[in-house]
Amino acid sequence: MEIIIAKKAGFCFGVKEAMNKAFAAANQIKDRPIYTYGPLIHNSQTIDKLESMGIRSIEDIEKHPNSTIIVRSHGVPLSFYDLADRYGIEIIDATCPFVRKVQKIAREYYLKGYAIVIVGDPNHPEVIGIHGWCENKASIVQREEDIDQLPHHDKVCVVAQTTITQELWDAITKKLEEKAKILEKFNTICIATKDRQTSCAELAKAVDAMIVIGGHHSSNTQKLVQISKKYCKNTFAIETVEELPMEEIKNLNKIGITAGASTPDWIIKEVIDKMSNTDQHNNEMMHMMEEIEN
Ligand code: F3S
Repeated sequence: MEIIIAKKAGFCFGVKEAMNKAFAAANQIKDRPIYTYGPLIHNSQTIDKLESMGIRSIEDIEKHPNSTIIVRSHGVPLSFYDLADRYGIEIIDATCPFVRKVQKIAREYYLKGYAIVIVGDPNHPEVIGIHGWCENKASIVQREEDIDQLPHHDKVCVVAQTTITQELWDAITKKLEEKAKILEKFNTICIATKDRQTSCAELAKAVDAMIVIGGHHSSNTQKLVQISKKYCKNTFAIETVEELPMEEIKNLNKIGITAGASTPDWIIKEVIDKMSNTDQHNNEMMHMMEEIEN
C-alpha cells in the first residue's frame, strides 16, 4: 500500500496561533479563570487537553464575569467586546487575521450603505461573527438558489466565509450580478483553505481511496470531504485513528491522506502509523510529514 499525504494538510496558521495563545494563557494567568468562547478547535482530544490545563469552553459570557476569555480563530460579533468589557472580562483575541479582514470589509461597506451578502453557513460561528460586524443586517447565502430570494439593490458587497469552496463562490457571485447595479466582490476564502482544497483535489484524482482526517463538525474538513468525493468515490472522513476503515482500504494500492485546518499533526501521524507497518515505510512517512505545513 502506498500512502501519499496532501502537500498542504493539517493545522493552519490561524488555528496554530489560537492554540499557542491558549497554552501561553494557561501558563501565565493564575489569578482568574480562563475560558474559550466556544470550543477552540473542532477536535475533542485537544479540547480534553485544554480542560486538563484548566481551560473550559463556555457559551454564555454573562455567567462568567471577571474571567479571561479566549476568542477563537472564528472571531465574534463586534458587540461581544462591549459586553465583555461590561462584565470585567479580559479578552485574549485569537481571531484569525484572515477572518478579521472579512469582518472589517463587511463593516466598512455596511457603513458606506451597501447591502452586505455573506456566502457561507449561517450557523457557523465565523459567519455569525461577521454578521455581527454589520449589525446583523447582512443576507447570508449558502446555495445558488438562495440568490433568488434576495431583493435587488443598487450597491451590494459580497464576502465569503473563509472556508467555502472556490466553486461555490464563483457560482454565487456570478448569479449575484443580476441582483445589483454595483457589486463589490471580495473573495475572502483564506489562502490556507485554498491550498488545502487544491492539494486535496489533486491527490484525490491520483489515488484509489482518500482518508480525510478532521472533526465531523469542522466546516473546512467537511469541504475537503466534499471535494475529495468529487474525484475519488472511496473517500472516508475520520476524526480519530479508531475510525480508520482498514477493511475497506487494505487491498487498495494508493491511499491519499489529507486533514482539516484544525487537525493536530499527532492525529495525522497516528493514522499514518496504523496504516504503515515497516520501519522503512515509517521513515518515508515521517519524511513526508515534514512537508505538512506547520
Ligand atoms: Fe484562519 Fe484560514 Fe485557518 S481563516 S483559522 S488560516 S482556515
